[in-house]
Amino acid sequence: MNRTYRLDDGRQTLVLAATADRLPVVAYWGASLPEGEDLDAVFDAGQIDVTGGMLDENPDLSICPEASRSFPGQPGLIVRDTDGTPLLPKFYLAGADHADGLALSYSDAENGLTLTVTFAVDVQTHIVTCQTTLDADRPVHLHWLAAPVMPAPQLSDEMIDVSGRWCGEFQLSRTAWSAGMRYRENRTGRTGHEHFPALIVPCRGATNTAGEAYAFHYGWSGGHRMIAEELPDGRRQVQWGHAARMESEPQRQFKTAPLYITYSDRGLNGCAVAFQRHLRDRIVTWPKPDAPRPVHYNCWEAVYFDHKLPVLKDIAERAAKLGAERFVLDDGWFGTRDDDTRSLSDWRIDARKYPDGLTPLIAHVHGLGMTFGLWFEPEMINPDSDIHRAHPEWALGSEDQTLGRQQKALNMALPAVRAFLYERMSAILRDNDIDYIKWDHNRVLPMPDAAQTRGSYALIDRLRAEFPHVEIESCASGGGRIDFGIMQRTQRVWLSDSNDALERLRIQHDAALFLPLSVTGSHVGPRHCHTSGRVIDISMRAWVAAQRHMGFEMDPRELDDHETAVLTEVTAWWKANRDWMQMADILRLDSADAAVIAEQQMAADKSRFVVFAGKAATSAQISPRPLRLTGLERDAMYKVDLVNRNTAPGLSRGTQALKSRVMTLSGAYLMTHGVTLPWSFPERMWVVEGTRL
Ligand code: DGJ
Repeated sequence: MNRTYRLDDGRQTLVLAATADRLPVVAYWGASLPEGEDLDAVFDAGQIDVTGGMLDENPDLSICPEASRSFPGQPGLIVRDTDGTPLLPKFYLAGADHADGLALSYSDAENGLTLTVTFAVDVQTHIVTCQTTLDADRPVHLHWLAAPVMPAPQLSDEMIDVSGRWCGEFQLSRTAWSAGMRYRENRTGRTGHEHFPALIVPCRGATNTAGEAYAFHYGWSGGHRMIAEELPDGRRQVQWGHAARMESEPQRQFKTAPLYITYSDRGLNGCAVAFQRHLRDRIVTWPKPDAPRPVHYNCWEAVYFDHKLPVLKDIAERAAKLGAERFVLDDGWFGTRDDDTRSLSDWRIDARKYPDGLTPLIAHVHGLGMTFGLWFEPEMINPDSDIHRAHPEWALGSEDQTLGRQQKALNMALPAVRAFLYERMSAILRDNDIDYIKWDHNRVLPMPDAAQTRGSYALIDRLRAEFPHVEIESCASGGGRIDFGIMQRTQRVWLSDSNDALERLRIQHDAALFLPLSVTGSHVGPRHCHTSGRVIDISMRAWVAAQRHMGFEMDPRELDDHETAVLTEVTAWWKANRDWMQMADILRLDSADAAVIAEQQMAADKSRFVVFAGKAATSAQISPRPLRLTGLERDAMYKVDLVNRNTAPGLSRGTQALKSRVMTLSGAYLMTHGVTLPWSFPERMWVVEGTRL
């Protein structure tokens, strides 16, 4: 007798099915099936045949493929007894609860193991959250535990995963499916610029705006393993879990992080919107859910470690005048932190720089109508620090380890370390009116260690419980710690240390496959970009920042009148639109011009949109190719207006319609022909507003 289970969210159906009491396979995952579909028939119909060179029965590609059943690929579980003996469990059904989502448990009496899998559907965001737990009746060693193992579609030629580097986060890698595995393992101990834990499997022909795609995200900050494998028989499996052998001690229970999955029938954007909404509406907890995201000013690239109260006050005044609403004091305010060689972990205000504490600066900032935020890098310690001198044993890893940015990580698994950090940080938060922490993490760990990540989470959770009004930004040399695990505890990510608008345009575009505006920090950088050496026009710098959670990071004393005017104007535009933009879907557009990176932010009620068309390079052809919009009502009419038409360069000599007037066009026209924009220089952004009539 088969056992079948079905999950629906109105867009996708998942069918799990098992022979008798065995572990189930995902017998179907894709577009919604009719209500009356016979699930036994679905299971039977999908079984592959047996021929020469195969076993007499095909081993199940189950939610945890079992090595003990001759599974020909990566098993879902690798576990050993404390004496090192490999355990080869065979699981049988022990309990099923299909009341709310699905929870299934399986036991292996011979080895004293229990495996539990859970699935939760969300009919609004279309994200399915699933997780696997292993319990043992005695401590055992875990080498690998996969979250529920999913099949990948057959009509797919490639998979897209995410790599990157410092100042170059969210680079999409496309790999063709072929026999064997695509194996990504992040052993750096943090999510990493190089390893955003996600996979998109587009079906053949899928684009940003059309076609089918499947997507996965593993919500964990300690380093993951992903396996996308094609078996010799052609079946494909996708496995996610913590990086292997991250648990140093034998234990009785192991749990994967939640795995977030979705199926889209509206291109990559369908997956992107599911992740954006789920992150914003389900994962992040907002201290003030209805408050608009404030415009930030961050002083890092203006002063670095050179903190002088009069200068900071002057900068704060100028930032406020430009429209900033939160002032964030970055690295350099504690210990004797005059450069990045010392003082990490000495979390006491530097009396040389701030003889009266932070109060005079905070009072000044408040007087300007801004709130105040402060930088910390809690998990780190410089060998040149009082705390390291007092407690060298608090550092993680060996004494002779290679340093990163002259620092070591603290061992966050030690209760004494967490207690120390809590005491120092809470004292500063209690004594000062602070509503924001920029929480940095500037080196990889000496070795992967799950207990470290659990320790970091515990510290953040404790601080948040006592200071629920304080927002936290997750930063790790830019985007080195971005995932749904850290985002359960934070409200913003510092997407990249690159304030180069050109590079940021690309990074933001690709990060939008997962991240909404509300959490994605983006700052207007200095005229001469500190990380690329480029000089980029203020209007491009301002509009790129206005695509996400806007802020400034240049020294405002460098701004000339023109730059000040543009920045003030774009910031005012952002403030006038942020209410709906922070709840909007970011839809990546399929640009016909390889030089143009474009997106459409669509209001939740679909009554309005804004298109950002960034020209990242000089086009091959002379005139801009029309840009097809998406997600509009074909029969509705839209007013289409070029917000920044006054920035058209003199070399744009024609009478292109949008340069002089507002156009009224149908959704059908805009989605089929597209918007024709005026000619422009490279490194410029056109901004088009649309309103449904
Ligand atoms: C790295 C961050 O990404 C920067 O924004 C800045 O906060 C520095 N650390 C400070 O040391």
